[in-house]
Amino acid sequence: MLLKIKKSYEISENLITPLEVYHHRRKFLKTIGVLGIGSVLGLPLLEAVENTPAANVVINQNTYPYQKNPNYSQQPLTPYAKASSYNNFYEFGMQKEDPYHRGKLLQTSPWSVVIDGEVQHPIKISLEDILKKMSLQERIYHFRCVEAWSMNIPWLGFELKDLIALSKPKGNAKFVLFETIKQDTMPAVKNPSLAGYIRFPYHEGLRLDEANHPLTMLAVGMYGKALPNQNGAPLRLVVPWKYGFKNIKSIVRITLVEKMPVSTWMGLDSSEYGFYANVNPNVAHPRWSQANERFIGEGFSFERVPTKMFNGYAEAVSALYAGMDLKTNY
Ligand code: MTE
Repeated sequence: MLLKIKKSYEISENLITPLEVYHHRRKFLKTIGVLGIGSVLGLPLLEAVENTPAANVVINQNTYPYQKNPNYSQQPLTPYAKASSYNNFYEFGMQKEDPYHRGKLLQTSPWSVVIDGEVQHPIKISLEDILKKMSLQERIYHFRCVEAWSMNIPWLGFELKDLIALSKPKGNAKFVLFETIKQDTMPAVKNPSLAGYIRFPYHEGLRLDEANHPLTMLAVGMYGKALPNQNGAPLRLVVPWKYGFKNIKSIVRITLVEKMPVSTWMGLDSSEYGFYANVNPNVAHPRWSQANERFIGEGFSFERVPTKMFNGYAEAVSALYAGMDLKTNY
């Protein structure tokens, strides 16, 4: 008999907003003319989610065999339609709905990932071979964007450490640098003004011990299906105790390095986006508080709930930061 023990990070079901409230809110927003305002990373946002094409969402029908991991559960789930139409993927533009509308321009086949740098055994491995070597499981994680909204998403994937191990990191490897594919068909690669002249490819980084932590996943799917392009197909990072921007999408290169790498957002503004980006209610973003968040579930709610330390995963990860000043190392 399996006993389900409620985890400290589980969200209580009373956060579900009745559908009538959502519809009332849409009507109200239309009346005052703000429905449809998007946002860029860094601006508090509430309304863009209302403007998503939820009703027409196309589910990627490809699926992979996987097992549900009952130790990672969160309720209520964010509806698939919202998780796949309210996205940040700046290669496709800065509005939340751009990745949904333009994601089809991403070519995901053939796909391979290079693992190189400070490793004994550099490899280039195809997605097919990754899928043959890794057994997939579903974990429902709480996802917290630095913009102070959150979702609960069932990811399908495997632990990153199992892929890294294939390359046999050398003793001097201390950090991991990730790189997203850069394709000329991506609208903001072709026309940099579409994404504030961000320099692509998008990069992110982790300390090697963070990358090897069992909570750190590479996801190939969500909600039981292969990842849709807008969510980072065919392979993306999921680090549940960090802000969403660490979760780099459509990865083609993983490089083990000695020194702390500079990620895309650090390069853009290191005073606002640090390397660690651990979810922390006590460390405000320079322009807004991180003490609470708006959960995106069914319907629409103005209700804000307290942010949890390390996004609710403190028990599992706080030892990684023992003795570290989290205000300085934000
Ligand atoms: N990865 C790439 N390559 N490009 C991006 O613009 N945006 C990041 C992250 N990964 C981004 C990216 C940000 S800011 C967030 S919040 C999450 O992806 C959003 O993931 P989601 O769209 O699946 O919710």
